[in-house]
Amino acid sequence: MRRLSGLSVRQRLLIGMGGALVGVIIIAALALLVSAQSDAADDQPIAFNHNIHVSKNGMQCQYCHYGAAESPEAVIPSVELCMGCHANIATDRPEIQKLAGYWERQEPIPWKRVNEQPSFVYFAHHPHIAAGVSCGACHGDVARMEIAEPVVNMNMGFCLDCHAEQDNKDALYDCAVCHR
Ligand code: HEC
Ligand code: HEC
Ligand code: HEC
Ligand code: HEC
Ligand code: HEC
Repeated sequence: MRRLSGLSVRQRLLIGMGGALVGVIIIAALALLVSAQSDAADDQPIAFNHNIHVSKNGMQCQYCHYGAAESPEAVIPSVELCMGCHANIATDRPEIQKLAGYWERQEPIPWKRVNEQPSFVYFAHHPHIAAGVSCGACHGDVARMEIAEPVVNMNMGFCLDCHAEQDNKDALYDCAVCHR
């Protein structure tokens, strides 16, 4: 107390303002956190989190997206695949109870698409995976995403820039490769 009373009025005022500022920052940060969480819930029917599954629990992308190596579509996994674990894991959490609800009703989860090309573009995963192109080249660091988001603008220039670096550049530049 003695030390504080030794301060000038101006100094005490500054300390008070500093405290108020910290308070405002904390409130703003909390508001952001809350809005980010409710966005996640609004965006997808279940708040699926890649970071938990891939970074924290070491799951491989193609365990869930098993189409990528053999077919045009990478595939979003079925409720059945999720329930292989979640019949037993974290069954007390609200998001897992929502998941179990889809399973009991035998309904597919209406996931919202994150990356989607216009219908006049043909894209196929398997030739890219076979040629060793990583998921991250087109989708960014999904392993660390809490909400899957598009980070790369996959427009025609993006596709052509990489095709231009390949040995069979001419064949991969043909309009019919991507517009059939
Ligand atoms: C436990 C299963 C699981 C694993 C493992 C997994 N994913 Fe997913 N992934 C999903 C589900 C479910 C969705 C749909 C919900 C969403 O968009 O978050 C999804 C969505 C995506 C999307 C967006 C799809 C769209 O709509 O365009 C991309 C891209 C993706 N995952 C890439 C990856 C990559 C890359 C890895 C590895 C680093 C990976 N995923 C690992 C289950 C998984
Ligand atoms: C190989 C096992 C496995 C599979 C398959 C799996 N998960 Fe998980 N999941 C986990 C583990 C482990 C956790 C972390 C649980 C914890 O926090 O204790 C988790 C956590 C979650 C959470 C967060 C729960 C919370 O609120 O804390 C959600 C939501 C979720 N998973 C949804 C899914 C969905 C949807 C699928 C199918 C696309 C899926 N999981 C497939 C193992 C799995
Ligand atoms: C050369 C770029 C590229 C690479 C590499 C790539 N993707 Fe994709 N991915 C796309 C594009 C483009 C779409 C949207 C396709 C469409 O709308 O027709 C897509 C869509 C998806 C989807 C949602 C729809 C679907 O196809 O089922 C998932 C999931 C996905 N990718 C996961 C992956 C995973 C996992 C890998 C790595 C094993 C990967 N992708 C590698 C470009 C790529
Ligand atoms: C990071 C590099 C890279 C990017 C980005 C990329 N590609 Fe490719 N693409 C390749 C490679 C490598 C091949 C395989 C070439 C081969 O097998 O000779 C390929 C092959 C293809 C094929 C199959 C060609 C055939 O005739 O077999 C299609 C279709 C294709 N790409 C479409 C796309 C589209 C559409 C995009 C953008 C959304 C895209 N690619 C982005 C590298 C890329
Ligand atoms: C490697 C794949 C690829 C090749 C090869 C390719 N395109 Fe495209 N093209 C795309 C993609 C992806 C889009 C969608 C662009 C977007 O969403 O911004 C597109 C869009 C277009 C559009 C619509 C543009 C717009 O603004 O809506 C036209 C027209 C087009 N391409 C013409 C061509 C012609 C002509 C060729 C041959 C000289 C060609 N493309 C070769 C991938 C390709």
